[in-house]
Amino acid sequence: MKKRLILLGPPGAGKGTVGGRLGETLELPLVSSGDLLRENLKKGTEAGIKAKQYMEKGELVPDEIVIAMIEEELSKPSCDRGAILDGFPRTLSQAQMLDGLFECGDDVKVVYLKADDDFLVNRLSKRRVCDGCGKIYHLVNLPPEKEGLCDVCGGKLVQRNDDREEIIRRRLNVYRKMTAPLIEYYGKRNVLHIVPGDGKLEDTLDEIRRIVKW
Ligand code: AP5
Repeated sequence: MKKRLILLGPPGAGKGTVGGRLGETLELPLVSSGDLLRENLKKGTEAGIKAKQYMEKGELVPDEIVIAMIEEELSKPSCDRGAILDGFPRTLSQAQMLDGLFECGDDVKVVYLKADDDFLVNRLSKRRVCDGCGKIYHLVNLPPEKEGLCDVCGGKLVQRNDDREEIIRRRLNVYRKMTAPLIEYYGKRNVLHIVPGDGKLEDTLDEIRRIVKW
């Protein structure tokens, strides 16, 4: 039996931040489609090169690229007990592919982190990420101890290319069109839990831990 926690929500709702913190306590790996794509981009793999044009514009990378990447990741021994999924699935086809991987008895929970667009645009414009290890910061809410440097690895903190207002708004539109329908998809299966994504991080984490109980 595997534990699968799917973090669903618009850009900036906190999927990566919450997923990283929960991963530590639940002892499950965080599988982030966005991070995997950015890693591929950095390494210059074929998938990364193909994905670049879509990511820069704030559009979704074609399903076949993302699905192959996630399938490979979930088949690794590190995911034997299950995984926390951040940013996947994002389309109906991706959700159906994931359903095909689940086995009878797997414990599947979906947490939808909810927040409104203006809040998210404002929050994302203050996000910084470590160039080295990928740890996520916020200039006001979750700042590093030393300005511009990662607390964990000392790497440089940078702004993501897709965190410009114009691109953030496009990502939000894409989210509404392509990903928001999954709220109904999982709602019908009674595995969906709605949690505010705009509250204090510790409150959000406590609420998810109460839901998950692993
Ligand atoms: P991806 O990297 O997945 O981006 P996203 O979904 O747009 O989500 P973000 O990473 O922007 O936000 P988040 O919800 O993780 O928020 P975070 O925790 O960082 O995808 C990027 C691109 O890759 C896509 O546009 C697409 O092109 C492609 N892609 C990825 N997956 C794909 C897929 N499945 N199919 C097709 N294409 C795909 O938090 C945001 C900020 O808020 C941070 O500064 C954080 O410190 C702060 N914060 C978060 N929570 C709190 C809190 N509770 N209190 C205070 N501050 C908080």
